Amino acid sequence: MSGPALLTIEDVVVELPTPRGNLRAVDHVDLSLGAGRTLGIVGESGCGKTMLSRAILQLLPKKAKLSGRVIFDGQDLVRLNAEALRRLRARGIAVVFQDPMTSLNPVLTIGTQLVETLQEHLELDAAAARRRSAELLAAVGIPAPEQRLSQYPHQLSGGMRQRVAIAIALSCEPKLLIADEPTTALDVTIQAQILDLLAREQRRRHMAMILITHDLGVVAGRADEVAVMYAGRVVERAPTPALFKNMHMPYTAALLAAIPKIEAAPHTPLAAIPGRPPDQTRPLKGCSFAPRCRNVGDQCLRSKPALTTAETEGHCYACFHPLKISAGVSA
Ligand SMILES: Nc1ncnc2c1ncn2[C@@H]1O[C@H](COP(=O)(O)OP(=O)(O)OP(=O)(O)O)[C@@H](O)[C@H]1O
Ligand code: SF4
Ligand SMILES: [Mg+2]
Repeated sequence: MSGPALLTIEDVVVELPTPRGNLRAVDHVDLSLGAGRTLGIVGESGCGKTMLSRAILQLLPKKAKLSGRVIFDGQDLVRLNAEALRRLRARGIAVVFQDPMTSLNPVLTIGTQLVETLQEHLELDAAAARRRSAELLAAVGIPAPEQRLSQYPHQLSGGMRQRVAIAIALSCEPKLLIADEPTTALDVTIQAQILDLLAREQRRRHMAMILITHDLGVVAGRADEVAVMYAGRVVERAPTPALFKNMHMPYTAALLAAIPKIEAAPHTPLAAIPGRPPDQTRPLKGCSFAPRCRNVGDQCLRSKPALTTAETEGHCYACFHPLKISAGVSA
């Protein structure tokens, strides 16, 4: 990463009380991200991607316990008061979720939602906010933006709704955009359009982005760096080309094998990783991936592998028996 970090996450732990006991959703995560850069966070369902992004946003469930530091633009967000956080979320960090209906209000028109956000945070008058709203809709590829302003979310397709959610997220010129599975709910052709839109707006605005996905294929060629999560931990982290050229974790290789292949015949079942993710209320003594790992050895069952630096700068992994072969996939 070049230049000072915009975001640094240090030793972040998130624990959630459940009827089965405490669940460690995020387990001692360290990450950093420079201004204008993209970090991909990849992992199976339940590995803690959303909880980590909520820890960054300070939007965890009420009963969650968070420890560690989240330094954004020089401030530790864990220690900010509610008002300072509200301002920061409006101007500094924006978020786009998987389902745009969770961020859009179904009973307000698109125009009202955009205008209200702009007026609240940028102190624009009504006419200027409406003009800016139409410009934003045009920028995210919505045809006839003036007419769209008076429509309700249910009158738009899923892809168009996600474009509106992105327009609202971009409206306050954030320095960091967190996109949590922004295309998972959309058709494959629309997915690529939305990812291209995010990349274009990011470059134009020199905005940093955290792109969260369960699909390693989504971050290939789109993220500068990738962090792979398993059972709440970052288990491999590398500049994207280095990761695809020479991944070390058996889990990362399994995620790669699970990427849907474009050339596959229609309706081919997706290759899932055999076995199930661990129960995070019952942490294992050894490596959490051990019950599913083909390379497992005695040491893996006895102790947890720490993140170790690999031969390429910026590449680290947590594995006693890393893969030696080069996966050789271009990113
Ligand atoms: N409100 C909650 N209370 C208790 N446990 C929760 C809560 N929300 C999530 N969890 C648990 O925390 C862990 C991490 O969940 P998280 O939603 O961060 O996963 P994820 O990687 O985003 O998964 P997905 O790809 O399905 O979105 C999981 O074990 C999940 O069951
Ligand atoms: S530490 Fe052992 S069990 Fe864990 S991923 Fe590496 S080889 Fe597999
Ligand atoms: Mg999630």
